[in-house]
Amino acid sequence: MHYGSSWSDMTETKAAYYQKTEVVETYDSARFQRNGGRVVAELESGFLSSLLLQTGVRPGRRALDCPCGTGRFIPLLLEKGFQVIAADISEPMLDKAREYGAGQYFCLDARKTGLPPATIDVWVMSRFLFHFEDIAPFFDEAARIIREQGYLIFDAYHWTPRSWVRRLQARWGGPVYIHGSKKIRAVAGRYGFELIRELPAFLLPPYVYAWMPYRLAGMIEWIAGRIPFVPKVKSYYLFRRNRA
Ligand SMILES: C[S@@+](CC[C@H](N)C(=O)[O-])C[C@H]1O[C@@H](n2cnc3c(N)ncnc32)[C@H](O)[C@@H]1O
Repeated sequence: MHYGSSWSDMTETKAAYYQKTEVVETYDSARFQRNGGRVVAELESGFLSSLLLQTGVRPGRRALDCPCGTGRFIPLLLEKGFQVIAADISEPMLDKAREYGAGQYFCLDARKTGLPPATIDVWVMSRFLFHFEDIAPFFDEAARIIREQGYLIFDAYHWTPRSWVRRLQARWGGPVYIHGSKKIRAVAGRYGFELIRELPAFLLPPYVYAWMPYRLAGMIEWIAGRIPFVPKVKSYYLFRRNRA
């Protein structure tokens, strides 16, 4: 294991949860491969694609996919022409991700990656920040390893029952935290990041869709996408690192 006693208990709890064989083995199937979960997967890839498009095109650009989890976004990043560095704190997750053929794989803590400074063009940090109450250390590290005018892409919750229903927390490895747009902008701003785009996403918490038929989930999201000002569960963000 790569995490030490200096971490808070909750951080260790989260990391330990994603080391479990049954969690790793069912991660994709429970969330993205059954019923309306497939709608979630399609929409998430769409949000990521759309934000990546805004980061421009230059051969040999380096994308850090961290945490990569099972590696489900590696094919998309490769398809967009990135050199992909995949990283996660969980070795079992990394083992799954290896089948997607990223250029490099690292087992590391996203707060202290050990990657060289100013070497990353785009850091994709999907389904991650909401696991932590204090998100500042991740922006600190992002400001160190993302080059000037490079990008950070991530998502954060506006609301979710997982932040208050204990049974859901127990099932999915501990509490999750709400970080609204205003707070996200303030924290990111302190580390020299400027908001380029925010995409509000999902009318219902994404895990709910995995219990719904595919067509129903698709219909709900299709309608929600056409009604302006409907509050969404989370947002996907594209931030650019300003010149120092
Ligand atoms: C909800 S999964 C998200 C995986 C992937 N990004 C996705 O969207 O499917 C959270 C991941 O964060 C990893 N993780 C937890 N704490 C971490 C840390 N401090 N540094 C790096 N990865 C961490 C876990 O091992 C797990 O793979």
